[in-house]
Amino acid sequence: MQRFARGEHDALDVGVPLSIGKKRWGTLKFGISLEKADHRILATVGRIVLLTILLMSAGFAIVVLLSRRFIGPITQLASTMEKAHGDTLDLKVPVRGQDELAVLADRFNSMIDRIRQANEELKKTHEKLVQSEKLASIGVLAAGVAHEINNPLGGIFNCLRMLQQDSDDPARREKYLGLVKEGMDRIESTVSKLLWMSRKADHRPVDVHLRDAVEKAHSFLHYKIGKRKIAFANEVPGDLHLTVDMHDLQQLLLNLYINAIDAMGPDGVLTVEGSRNDSTVVLEVADTGCGIVPENVHRVFDPFFTTKLPGEGTGLGLWLTYEIVRTYDGEITVESEPGRGSRFTMRFPSRQVR
Ligand SMILES: Nc1ncnc2c1ncn2[C@@H]1O[C@H](COP(=O)(O)OP(=O)(O)O)[C@@H](O)[C@H]1O
Ligand SMILES: [Mg+2]
Repeated sequence: MQRFARGEHDALDVGVPLSIGKKRWGTLKFGISLEKADHRILATVGRIVLLTILLMSAGFAIVVLLSRRFIGPITQLASTMEKAHGDTLDLKVPVRGQDELAVLADRFNSMIDRIRQANEELKKTHEKLVQSEKLASIGVLAAGVAHEINNPLGGIFNCLRMLQQDSDDPARREKYLGLVKEGMDRIESTVSKLLWMSRKADHRPVDVHLRDAVEKAHSFLHYKIGKRKIAFANEVPGDLHLTVDMHDLQQLLLNLYINAIDAMGPDGVLTVEGSRNDSTVVLEVADTGCGIVPENVHRVFDPFFTTKLPGEGTGLGLWLTYEIVRTYDGEITVESEPGRGSRFTMRFPSRQVR
């Protein structure tokens, strides 16, 4: 059998030997044109190519349709999820159709709803807690204030009694009237401090002279500090200023002072330092008290974390302090060594600096 080209088309030459018994009579030869077969093969290949192209286009169209149908909503869901943080909880993913993706989008929307409700509840609780901690520190103040008022009041009564008994001697009269006036001045200054403390106006940051503010907060606790023979060192430079709401600053200083006083025995030293670099005002409150054990250091800013006896500690003071510092985009950290003391460092960004 032989294949060869004849004209434009191939042909097949076939030769078959003709033999009867052992005698060979010759060879039968015939040729077959491959023209028709070639045509058919070409047509079939053409059809296969066409079919392949059709199938590929259909596949591509299906992929595009599927991605529109499924990937589009998933991308939308993902981008909405990314936006769903902080205060932007009023987001909603459109729900189309009734398939699994629609169910997913619907559940996502109701989850966002629940988170928003939980957030609002938390905010309300937060406000209540802030209020209760304020009440607690006012309680500590009130004890001091009662003492500050009762002492001079006792003195005034004594002087008045003496004056009743013997008011004729001008020298004695002058002496006792002077003492009465002194006592009344003391009461007046205490009452005015208390009024100043309770006059919680709106959050109103003003330019505050830090050294004075540190001294003023200390004067509120004069009684508590004096009773325990604790030394107070105000080492804040006289030219350090911070833009802050006075009540916020007093509240956080009081919280830190009260903790430091609670942590110290007699002869402890409470030191407040201040400094400033280009972008930050740093305020540090250090004590020589009992310190904080390492396993508690990271918990002291947690609400309700307290190592004090019931009735002595609420566990909200440092949490409130942390919240106040955060209002000013600041940060508060603590370093402490058990048995040696603690140092609370607050850093306020330059926006607050004047
Ligand atoms: N200066 C400090 N020295 C030692 N421990 C401290 C100091 N400040 C805070 N702590 C610890 O942190 C806890 C939490 O403080 P705080 O939030 O003010 O709540 P409270 O004073 O009501 O316990 C305290 O109970 C105490 O264990
Ligand atoms: Mg406290």
